[in-house]
Amino acid sequence: MPRVSLRRSTAFRLALTFGTLVILAFALAGGVSYRLLNQELAHRLDDSVNETYSVVASTYAKDDVEDLIAAINTYASLTTADRSLFAVEDKQGRRLAGNFTPPLLPDGLSTIESEDVGLGDGGVYRIRAGTIDGTRLIVGESFDEVQRLSRVQLVSLLWAALFAVVTAVGGGIFLAIRAQSRLDAVAGTMFDVSNGQLDRRIPLLGNGDDIDVVSRQINSSLDQLSSLVEGMRQVSADIAHELKTPLNRLKMTLDQAVDTGERGGDVAGLLQEARAEGDQINATFDALLRISQIEAGARKRRFQNVDLASVVALIGEIYVDVAGDAGQQLLVVSSSPDRDVVVGDRELLTQMLVNLVENAIRHCPEGSTIRIELTRKNEEVIVVVSDDGPGIPLDEHDKVFRRLYRLDKSRTTPGSGLGLSLVRAIADLHGATIKLEDNKPGVRVTIALPAKH
Ligand SMILES: Nc1ncnc2c1ncn2[C@@H]1O[C@H](COP(=O)(O)OP(=O)(O)OP(=O)(O)O)[C@@H](O)[C@H]1O
Ligand SMILES: [Mg+2]
Repeated sequence: MPRVSLRRSTAFRLALTFGTLVILAFALAGGVSYRLLNQELAHRLDDSVNETYSVVASTYAKDDVEDLIAAINTYASLTTADRSLFAVEDKQGRRLAGNFTPPLLPDGLSTIESEDVGLGDGGVYRIRAGTIDGTRLIVGESFDEVQRLSRVQLVSLLWAALFAVVTAVGGGIFLAIRAQSRLDAVAGTMFDVSNGQLDRRIPLLGNGDDIDVVSRQINSSLDQLSSLVEGMRQVSADIAHELKTPLNRLKMTLDQAVDTGERGGDVAGLLQEARAEGDQINATFDALLRISQIEAGARKRRFQNVDLASVVALIGEIYVDVAGDAGQQLLVVSSSPDRDVVVGDRELLTQMLVNLVENAIRHCPEGSTIRIELTRKNEEVIVVVSDDGPGIPLDEHDKVFRRLYRLDKSRTTPGSGLGLSLVRAIADLHGATIKLEDNKPGVRVTIALPAKH
């Protein structure tokens, strides 16, 4: 069986697409949250620097710079220069206290690097500078904490991204393999079926997912296909079997004619018999072909409106005498014309009813009553052909619709066992349902055709 490589399978491509989308979405969301957190931390650092500046500044009383210097010294002694910076300068820019020598800074917030203030390298500080009564106060905090938190966030984002990628790709591959194996099962089954194993079916999981639904539909199509093929096989076997008898009979008659001819006897009668047998075989083949053609549905193109009441009336007219000749009675019960219009092929519909009436006349004894009833019920036109003859045993009801099937007791009457097959083919062509029942006594065939709207 030709196999689809996993990389080319739809499931894998879907998994890959969604994996990529997950990664992209993650990168986007991660980037945004990283930026937001950094902004928030920077804000907080600014707030903290501003707050420290205000607290220190509040220790200054007018013309008393000593308190400010004392406060700065206390703050500076509580921390290290790599975390917080403090400085106080006098009006001439001389440093009065603090743990660093500030460069020239504008008032307000600014950012400086540690090299600028001789504090080694790599550090960055947020600085707030201001002038109180001519004295300059400078307070700063290192970005170190902010950078550390950013790093932690970045690392955790990268870990999470790695997890997401592994999960998305791993999960995608797992799902792709699972879906692929089920599609392989579908393809495998179809391959086996096309190789003649008509009984193979796609295994179902029973979880009702899309593949299950499609598989169930394919399985039911396969059921139908195999029963059709089985039916065809049966029909071919039946036809071969049933035609063997008349062909043997024909051969025997011809053999007899040859023998008689060799002996100088009169062969005209035997040849006539052979011709009649040949004609009968021909008629059987014609009927078989006709049924196949009707089943193929080509006649649908000729469909038109047909008033069944007029068809029934015509059949009644013709067959009342035929039934009378056979010592039977034919009754026609029909509703008003024009109500019983269907869309179909008039000739075929006539043939269908004729077959049923002829069956009743042929298979019922003298004195029987045959009825044709036509009624309209809701959206259906219903024709019932019934008789009070010997009937058909219940277990033969299905079989009589098979091609060439005849009840044993009918084998002596003329006919080829194709009449009811044709009836069924015509009913199917018209979308009609057909029902065979016991008329107690007799046969009752009900055909319900969809009425024309
Ligand atoms: N009204 C009936 N009463 C009793 N038996 C019937 C009736 N209709 C059909 N059958 C039985 O069903 C069999 C099949 O009928 P079908 O019409 O297919 O074939 P047929 O009448 O024998 O031959 P033909 O091909 O000429 O119609 C008949 O051979 C007969 O045994
Ligand atoms: Mg018949």
